[in-house]
Amino acid sequence: MNRIKCIGVLTSGGDAPGMNPAIRAVTRAAIANGFRVKGIYRGYEGLIHNEIKEFTTESVSGIIGRGGTILKTARSKDFMTPEGRQQAYDNMVAAGIDALVVIGGNGSLTGARLFAAEFDVPCIGLPGTIDNDLNGTDLTIGYDTSLNTIMDCVDKIRDTANSHERIFFIEVMGRDAGFLAQNSAIAAGAEAAIIPEEVTHVDQLAQFIGRGIRKSKSSSIVIVSESPKCGAMYYAERVRKEYPQYDVRVSILGHLQRGGSPSAGDRILASRLGVGAINALLDGQRNVMVGIKDDEVVYVPFSNAVKSDKPLKRDLITALQVLSM
Ligand code: F6P
Repeated sequence: MNRIKCIGVLTSGGDAPGMNPAIRAVTRAAIANGFRVKGIYRGYEGLIHNEIKEFTTESVSGIIGRGGTILKTARSKDFMTPEGRQQAYDNMVAAGIDALVVIGGNGSLTGARLFAAEFDVPCIGLPGTIDNDLNGTDLTIGYDTSLNTIMDCVDKIRDTANSHERIFFIEVMGRDAGFLAQNSAIAAGAEAAIIPEEVTHVDQLAQFIGRGIRKSKSSSIVIVSESPKCGAMYYAERVRKEYPQYDVRVSILGHLQRGGSPSAGDRILASRLGVGAINALLDGQRNVMVGIKDDEVVYVPFSNAVKSDKPLKRDLITALQVLSM
């Protein structure tokens, strides 16, 4: 294998708070170890369209507390084609980039896996997604900030829900995973969470609602994982039809969940994993995601990281059930 001299870094897919601290850590750890660094803009699109810029330590000054990603991001359709990947490879070679650090979620790391296999390019992934759905890492960059944002929103909705004695279905992101929904429900003291990992039956709805309305509580809050067919609107409609005595509202939190200054937890995680990405290259690792497991930095092969079956701990489901009584 040729010695690596220059590392390209990009962010791809949905942005996540903490991507900037990750870019900063990758850049500075790389330079500290004698590598050159090139920032690639708009994810894989920037590789295909040659939007590449030399980075210095100053390029990443003052960004640790900023949400979003200074490199911009995209979901590249062209990179899904062999022609697109060939163009990306040609530009990468022309720019003198010998290895890539890709910060992104499932789709982005799947792209990195494919690219690495086709062109024998050392690729290191960092888990950057609010969904927390990558395997082999306890946490993904952005998840903690998003969870806190959701909790703050639900706290505010609880005020108005109480005043009006209403039932709220609050829809949160997470794609196919219920980590954000389940844990924000626990953190905000919601009555229930409807998540893709669990089947919700019709009669459970009455139970969820009852938990909030009975006793001294005057409102009920159910957090619902986003879903094309069975999101918050779907459940609200069903309750309106089956329990017309209740005053039901829906709140879809949307993209505000992806914004904001990264939490301390996300900044530290991103910094550790960014340094870990450079250590991985120095260790001769390739085609792995750098994750965190039991407070240790670990290398997870892409093939494991992108499996869509990250387990949600059962005790979280029990805890919410017990505590929302
Ligand atoms: O993967 C992150 C995520 O925010 C998901 O939770 C959500 O389903 C999706 O991205 C939304 O993507 P977009 O910003 O492209 O609408």
